[in-house]
Amino acid sequence: MVEAFAPGKCILFGEHAVVYGHPAVALAIDQGVRVSLKKSEEWRIGGEKFDPFKHPHISHILHKIFYYNGEPLDIKIESQLFPAAGLGSSAALSNAIGAALHKMMKPNEKIDIVKLAKIGHSAEAAAQEGRASPTDTATSALGGCVVVSGEPVKGTEHIFNTELVTPEGKRSWSIYKSILPEKTDGIWLILGFTGESSPTGKMVAGVANLLSQVPSKKDEMEAINEITLKGLDALSKGNFEAVGLAMDECHKHLQNLNVSSDSLDRLVEAVRPYSLGAKMTGAGGGGCIVAISRNPQRVSEQIEIAGGIPMISKIGTKGVKII
Ligand code: PMV
Repeated sequence: MVEAFAPGKCILFGEHAVVYGHPAVALAIDQGVRVSLKKSEEWRIGGEKFDPFKHPHISHILHKIFYYNGEPLDIKIESQLFPAAGLGSSAALSNAIGAALHKMMKPNEKIDIVKLAKIGHSAEAAAQEGRASPTDTATSALGGCVVVSGEPVKGTEHIFNTELVTPEGKRSWSIYKSILPEKTDGIWLILGFTGESSPTGKMVAGVANLLSQVPSKKDEMEAINEITLKGLDALSKGNFEAVGLAMDECHKHLQNLNVSSDSLDRLVEAVRPYSLGAKMTGAGGGGCIVAISRNPQRVSEQIEIAGGIPMISKIGTKGVKII
Protein backbone atom coordinates (compact mmCIF):
# COMPACT_ATOMS: atom_id res chain seq x y z
CA MET A 1 0.00 0.00 0.00
CA VAL A 2 1.21 3.55 -0.67
CA GLU A 3 -0.02 6.70 1.05
CA ALA A 4 0.45 10.41 0.40
CA PHE A 5 -0.77 13.62 2.04
CA ALA A 6 -1.20 17.03 0.40
CA PRO A 7 -2.15 20.19 2.32
CA GLY A 8 -4.94 22.62 1.54
CA LYS A 9 -4.35 26.35 1.22
CA CYS A 10 -5.79 29.74 1.98
CA ILE A 11 -5.24 32.98 0.09
CA LEU A 12 -3.79 35.64 2.37
CA PHE A 13 -3.76 38.49 -0.14
CA GLY A 14 -4.66 39.18 -3.76
CA GLU A 15 -7.74 37.07 -4.56
CA HIS A 16 -9.65 38.47 -7.54
CA ALA A 17 -6.83 40.95 -8.29
CA VAL A 18 -4.76 37.94 -9.45
CA VAL A 19 -7.31 37.35 -12.22
CA TYR A 20 -6.21 40.76 -13.60
CA GLY A 21 -2.48 39.96 -13.48
CA HIS A 22 -1.71 41.23 -9.95
CA PRO A 23 0.06 38.95 -7.44
CA ALA A 24 -1.73 36.66 -4.99
CA VAL A 25 -0.17 35.24 -1.82
CA ALA A 26 -1.28 31.82 -0.60
CA LEU A 27 -0.28 29.80 2.46
CA ALA A 28 -0.37 26.02 2.80
CA ILE A 29 -2.38 24.92 5.85
CA ASP A 30 -1.96 21.94 8.21
CA GLN A 31 -5.20 20.31 7.09
CA GLY A 32 -5.33 18.48 3.78
CA VAL A 33 -6.15 15.28 1.94
CA ARG A 34 -4.64 11.84 2.58
CA VAL A 35 -4.84 9.22 -0.15
CA SER A 36 -3.97 5.54 0.03
CA LEU A 37 -3.70 3.16 -2.94
CA LYS A 38 -3.83 -0.60 -2.63
CA LYS A 39 -3.85 -3.20 -5.40
CA SER A 40 -7.18 -4.98 -5.44
CA GLU A 41 -9.50 -7.36 -7.33
CA GLU A 42 -11.61 -4.49 -8.70
CA TRP A 43 -11.53 -0.70 -9.00
CA ARG A 44 -12.92 0.85 -5.80
CA ILE A 45 -12.99 4.31 -4.24
CA GLY A 46 -14.17 5.11 -0.72
CA GLY A 47 -15.58 1.59 -0.43
CA GLU A 48 -17.66 1.91 -3.63
CA LYS A 49 -17.17 0.94 -7.25
CA PHE A 50 -14.90 3.50 -9.01
CA ASP A 51 -16.77 5.59 -11.59
CA PRO A 52 -14.26 7.65 -13.66
CA PHE A 53 -16.96 10.20 -14.58
CA LYS A 54 -17.56 10.97 -10.91
CA HIS A 55 -13.82 11.40 -10.28
CA PRO A 56 -12.40 13.25 -13.30
CA HIS A 57 -9.24 14.42 -11.43
CA ILE A 58 -8.29 10.90 -10.47
CA SER A 59 -9.16 9.42 -13.83
CA HIS A 60 -7.08 12.10 -15.63
CA ILE A 61 -4.01 11.48 -13.47
CA LEU A 62 -4.31 7.68 -13.71
CA HIS A 63 -4.80 7.41 -17.45
CA LYS A 64 -3.68 10.64 -19.13
CA ILE A 65 -0.57 11.28 -17.04
CA PHE A 66 0.67 7.98 -15.65
CA TYR A 67 -0.88 5.72 -18.36
CA TYR A 68 -1.69 3.28 -15.55
CA ASN A 69 -2.64 -0.15 -16.86
CA GLY A 70 -1.74 -2.29 -13.85
CA GLU A 71 -4.03 -4.17 -11.46
CA PRO A 72 -7.20 -2.42 -10.28
CA LEU A 73 -6.73 -0.14 -7.27
CA ASP A 74 -8.66 0.37 -4.08
CA ILE A 75 -8.43 4.15 -3.48
CA LYS A 76 -9.09 5.59 -0.01
CA ILE A 77 -9.45 9.33 0.49
CA GLU A 78 -9.60 11.15 3.83
CA SER A 79 -10.12 14.90 3.65
CA GLN A 80 -9.89 17.31 6.58
CA LEU A 81 -10.90 20.22 4.32
CA PHE A 82 -14.34 21.75 3.96
CA PRO A 83 -15.31 21.07 0.32
CA ALA A 84 -16.00 23.98 -2.09
CA ALA A 85 -14.88 26.42 0.59
CA GLY A 86 -11.82 27.95 -1.08
CA LEU A 87 -9.35 25.72 0.79
CA GLY A 88 -8.11 23.90 -2.30
CA SER A 89 -9.54 20.48 -1.49
CA SER A 90 -9.62 19.27 -5.11
CA ALA A 91 -6.04 20.46 -5.69
CA ALA A 92 -4.89 18.65 -2.54
CA LEU A 93 -6.66 15.51 -3.78
CA SER A 94 -4.98 15.75 -7.21
CA ASN A 95 -1.55 16.26 -5.64
CA ALA A 96 -1.97 13.44 -3.13
CA ILE A 97 -3.15 11.02 -5.85
CA GLY A 98 -0.25 12.09 -8.10
CA ALA A 99 2.30 11.59 -5.31
CA ALA A 100 0.88 8.21 -4.27
CA LEU A 101 0.82 6.94 -7.87
CA HIS A 102 4.38 8.14 -8.41
CA LYS A 103 5.46 6.18 -5.34
CA MET A 104 3.61 3.08 -6.54
CA MET A 105 4.85 3.17 -10.15
CA LYS A 106 8.34 4.65 -9.72
CA PRO A 107 9.30 3.66 -6.16
CA ASN A 108 12.99 4.46 -6.61
CA GLU A 109 12.63 7.78 -8.39
CA LYS A 110 12.63 10.96 -6.28
CA ILE A 111 9.41 12.86 -6.66
CA ASP A 112 9.65 16.07 -8.72
CA ILE A 113 7.42 18.55 -6.86
CA VAL A 114 7.20 21.05 -9.73
CA LYS A 115 6.15 18.28 -12.12
CA LEU A 116 3.59 17.16 -9.56
CA ALA A 117 2.20 20.71 -9.24
CA LYS A 118 1.84 20.84 -13.02
CA ILE A 119 0.13 17.42 -13.09
CA GLY A 120 -2.27 18.61 -10.38
CA HIS A 121 -2.99 21.79 -12.36
CA SER A 122 -3.73 19.84 -15.54
CA ALA A 123 -6.07 17.54 -13.58
CA GLU A 124 -7.90 20.57 -12.15
CA ALA A 125 -8.26 22.03 -15.64
CA ALA A 126 -9.48 18.69 -17.06
CA ALA A 127 -12.16 18.53 -14.35
CA GLN A 128 -13.20 22.21 -14.71
CA GLU A 129 -13.80 22.64 -18.45
CA GLY A 130 -10.26 23.86 -19.07
CA ARG A 131 -10.28 26.68 -16.52
CA ALA A 132 -8.07 26.53 -13.42
CA SER A 133 -5.62 28.82 -11.72
CA PRO A 134 -2.40 27.11 -10.58
CA THR A 135 -2.58 28.76 -7.12
CA ASP A 136 -4.10 25.82 -5.24
CA THR A 137 -2.04 23.04 -6.81
CA ALA A 138 1.25 25.00 -6.56
CA THR A 139 0.67 25.90 -2.90
CA SER A 140 -0.36 22.38 -1.97
CA ALA A 141 2.67 20.90 -3.77
CA LEU A 142 5.33 23.38 -2.63
CA GLY A 143 3.98 24.22 0.85
CA GLY A 144 4.90 27.37 2.80
CA CYS A 145 4.09 30.69 1.17
CA VAL A 146 3.49 30.78 -2.58
CA VAL A 147 3.10 33.87 -4.74
CA VAL A 148 1.36 33.67 -8.11
CA SER A 149 2.03 36.66 -10.31
CA GLY A 150 2.21 37.90 -13.88
CA GLU A 151 5.52 39.63 -13.13
CA PRO A 152 8.49 39.21 -10.74
CA VAL A 153 7.78 40.07 -7.10
CA LYS A 154 10.53 41.59 -4.91
CA GLY A 155 11.96 39.28 -2.25
CA THR A 156 10.61 36.05 -3.73
CA GLU A 157 12.28 33.13 -5.50
CA HIS A 158 11.04 32.13 -8.94
CA ILE A 159 10.10 28.43 -8.97
CA PHE A 160 8.36 27.73 -12.28
CA ASN A 161 6.16 29.06 -15.06
CA THR A 162 3.02 27.39 -16.21
CA GLU A 163 0.39 27.93 -18.87
CA LEU A 164 -2.97 26.61 -19.85
CA VAL A 165 -5.08 26.79 -22.97
CA THR A 166 -8.48 27.84 -21.63
CA PRO A 167 -11.70 28.33 -23.62
CA GLU A 168 -10.85 32.07 -23.51
CA GLY A 169 -7.32 31.61 -24.89
CA LYS A 170 -3.86 30.86 -23.53
CA ARG A 171 -3.07 32.01 -19.99
CA SER A 172 0.33 31.96 -18.30
CA TRP A 173 1.44 32.33 -14.71
CA SER A 174 4.72 32.48 -12.80
CA ILE A 175 5.01 30.81 -9.43
CA TYR A 176 7.32 32.21 -6.75
CA LYS A 177 8.11 31.19 -3.18
CA SER A 178 8.46 33.64 -0.35
CA ILE A 179 10.65 32.64 2.56
CA LEU A 180 8.69 32.74 5.80
CA PRO A 181 10.38 33.96 8.99
CA GLU A 182 11.88 31.15 11.06
CA LYS A 183 10.08 32.26 14.20
CA THR A 184 6.38 32.83 13.77
CA ASP A 185 6.19 34.22 17.29
CA GLY A 186 3.22 32.18 18.55
CA ILE A 187 1.11 33.38 15.62
CA TRP A 188 -1.55 31.06 14.24
CA LEU A 189 -3.81 31.06 11.22
CA ILE A 190 -7.45 30.48 12.00
CA LEU A 191 -9.90 29.60 9.24
CA GLY A 192 -13.62 30.07 9.77
CA PHE A 193 -16.04 28.29 7.43
CA THR A 194 -19.41 30.00 6.90
CA GLY A 195 -21.02 26.66 6.01
CA GLU A 196 -21.88 28.02 2.57
CA SER A 197 -20.03 26.92 -0.56
CA SER A 198 -17.88 29.39 -2.43
CA PRO A 199 -18.81 29.59 -6.14
CA THR A 200 -15.51 30.72 -7.75
CA GLY A 201 -16.75 31.00 -11.36
CA LYS A 202 -19.81 33.02 -10.38
CA MET A 203 -17.83 35.41 -8.16
CA VAL A 204 -15.13 35.99 -10.81
CA ALA A 205 -17.85 36.68 -13.41
CA GLY A 206 -19.57 39.08 -10.97
CA VAL A 207 -16.36 41.09 -10.57
CA ALA A 208 -15.86 41.24 -14.36
CA ASN A 209 -19.40 42.54 -14.70
CA LEU A 210 -18.91 45.15 -11.97
CA LEU A 211 -15.69 46.40 -13.60
CA SER A 212 -17.39 46.81 -16.96
CA GLN A 213 -20.36 48.68 -15.42
CA VAL A 214 -18.34 50.78 -12.95
CA PRO A 215 -14.86 51.29 -14.45
CA SER A 216 -13.69 53.25 -11.38
CA LYS A 217 -13.76 49.93 -9.46
CA LYS A 218 -10.41 49.20 -11.17
CA ASP A 219 -8.96 51.34 -8.35
CA GLU A 220 -9.93 48.57 -5.93
CA MET A 221 -7.68 46.19 -7.87
CA GLU A 222 -4.78 48.65 -7.69
CA ALA A 223 -5.37 49.06 -3.96
CA ILE A 224 -5.40 45.27 -3.43
CA ASN A 225 -2.16 45.04 -5.43
CA GLU A 226 -0.44 47.56 -3.13
CA ILE A 227 -1.74 45.90 0.02
CA THR A 228 -0.60 42.49 -1.25
CA LEU A 229 2.96 43.72 -1.79
CA LYS A 230 3.06 45.47 1.60
CA GLY A 231 1.51 42.48 3.36
CA LEU A 232 3.97 40.08 1.73
CA ASP A 233 6.92 42.25 2.72
CA ALA A 234 5.64 42.39 6.32
CA LEU A 235 5.12 38.61 6.37
CA SER A 236 8.65 37.86 5.18
CA LYS A 237 10.02 40.17 7.91
CA GLY A 238 7.87 38.54 10.59
CA ASN A 239 6.00 41.79 11.25
CA PHE A 240 2.65 40.13 11.95
CA GLU A 241 1.02 43.32 13.28
CA ALA A 242 1.53 44.86 9.83
CA VAL A 243 0.34 41.65 8.13
CA GLY A 244 -2.88 41.87 10.19
CA LEU A 245 -3.47 45.52 9.27
CA ALA A 246 -2.98 44.66 5.61
CA MET A 247 -5.52 41.81 5.93
CA ASP A 248 -8.10 44.18 7.46
CA GLU A 249 -7.51 46.66 4.62
CA CYS A 250 -7.74 43.94 1.99
CA HIS A 251 -11.13 42.83 3.33
CA LYS A 252 -12.52 46.37 2.85
CA HIS A 253 -11.53 46.39 -0.81
CA LEU A 254 -12.99 42.92 -1.37
CA GLN A 255 -16.23 44.23 0.17
CA ASN A 256 -16.10 47.10 -2.33
CA LEU A 257 -15.89 44.50 -5.12
CA ASN A 258 -19.11 42.93 -3.72
CA VAL A 259 -17.48 39.56 -3.13
CA SER A 260 -17.91 39.40 0.64
CA SER A 261 -21.23 38.26 2.15
CA ASP A 262 -23.17 38.86 5.36
CA SER A 263 -21.92 35.62 6.88
CA LEU A 264 -18.28 36.34 5.91
CA ASP A 265 -18.57 39.88 7.34
CA ARG A 266 -20.15 38.51 10.52
CA LEU A 267 -17.26 36.09 11.09
CA VAL A 268 -14.66 38.78 10.31
CA GLU A 269 -16.28 41.19 12.81
CA ALA A 270 -16.55 38.48 15.45
CA VAL A 271 -12.84 37.59 15.38
CA ARG A 272 -11.35 41.09 14.99
CA PRO A 273 -11.12 41.93 18.74
CA TYR A 274 -8.89 38.86 19.28
CA SER A 275 -6.93 38.93 16.01
CA LEU A 276 -4.12 40.92 14.47
CA GLY A 277 -6.16 40.91 11.26
CA ALA A 278 -8.95 39.09 9.48
CA LYS A 279 -10.47 38.90 6.01
CA MET A 280 -12.47 36.68 3.71
CA THR A 281 -10.27 34.28 1.77
CA GLY A 282 -10.71 32.97 -1.78
CA ALA A 283 -13.54 33.74 -4.15
CA GLY A 284 -16.04 34.87 -1.49
CA GLY A 285 -19.83 34.73 -1.61
CA GLY A 286 -19.43 31.97 0.99
CA GLY A 287 -16.47 29.82 1.90
CA CYS A 288 -14.08 30.93 4.62
CA ILE A 289 -12.47 33.78 6.46
CA VAL A 290 -8.85 33.76 7.61
CA ALA A 291 -7.52 35.46 10.73
CA ILE A 292 -4.07 35.63 12.28
CA SER A 293 -3.85 35.70 16.05
CA ARG A 294 -1.79 34.86 19.14
CA ASN A 295 -4.99 33.54 20.72
CA PRO A 296 -6.29 30.85 18.34
CA GLN A 297 -8.62 29.23 20.91
CA ARG A 298 -10.43 32.50 21.60
CA VAL A 299 -10.73 33.24 17.88
CA SER A 300 -12.10 29.73 17.27
CA GLU A 301 -14.73 30.27 20.00
CA GLN A 302 -15.73 33.56 18.40
CA ILE A 303 -16.15 31.81 15.04
CA GLU A 304 -18.38 29.17 16.63
CA ILE A 305 -20.46 31.77 18.47
CA ALA A 306 -20.97 33.63 15.17
CA GLY A 307 -22.21 30.39 13.53
CA GLY A 308 -19.04 29.30 11.72
CA ILE A 309 -16.75 26.27 11.91
CA PRO A 310 -13.15 26.98 12.97
CA MET A 311 -9.90 25.30 11.99
CA ILE A 312 -6.46 26.22 13.37
CA SER A 313 -3.21 25.90 11.40
CA LYS A 314 0.36 26.98 11.95
CA ILE A 315 1.99 29.29 9.41
CA GLY A 316 4.43 27.50 7.13
CA THR A 317 3.11 23.97 6.64
CA LYS A 318 5.19 21.75 4.34
CA GLY A 319 3.92 20.68 0.92
CA VAL A 320 2.84 17.29 -0.42
CA LYS A 321 4.54 14.23 1.07
CA ILE A 322 4.63 10.46 0.79
CA ILE A 323 3.72 8.95 4.15
O1 PMV B 1 -11.81 30.34 -3.53
P1 PMV B 1 -10.70 29.89 -4.40
O2 PMV B 1 -9.62 29.22 -3.69
O3 PMV B 1 -11.21 29.15 -5.59
O4 PMV B 1 -10.00 31.23 -4.89
C1 PMV B 1 -10.37 31.92 -6.00
C2 PMV B 1 -9.38 33.01 -6.21
C3 PMV B 1 -9.78 33.96 -7.32
O5 PMV B 1 -8.77 34.96 -7.37
C4 PMV B 1 -11.09 34.62 -7.01
C5 PMV B 1 -9.90 33.24 -8.66
C6 PMV B 1 -8.59 32.76 -9.26
O6 PMV B 1 -8.67 31.99 -10.25
O7 PMV B 1 -7.50 33.14 -8.82
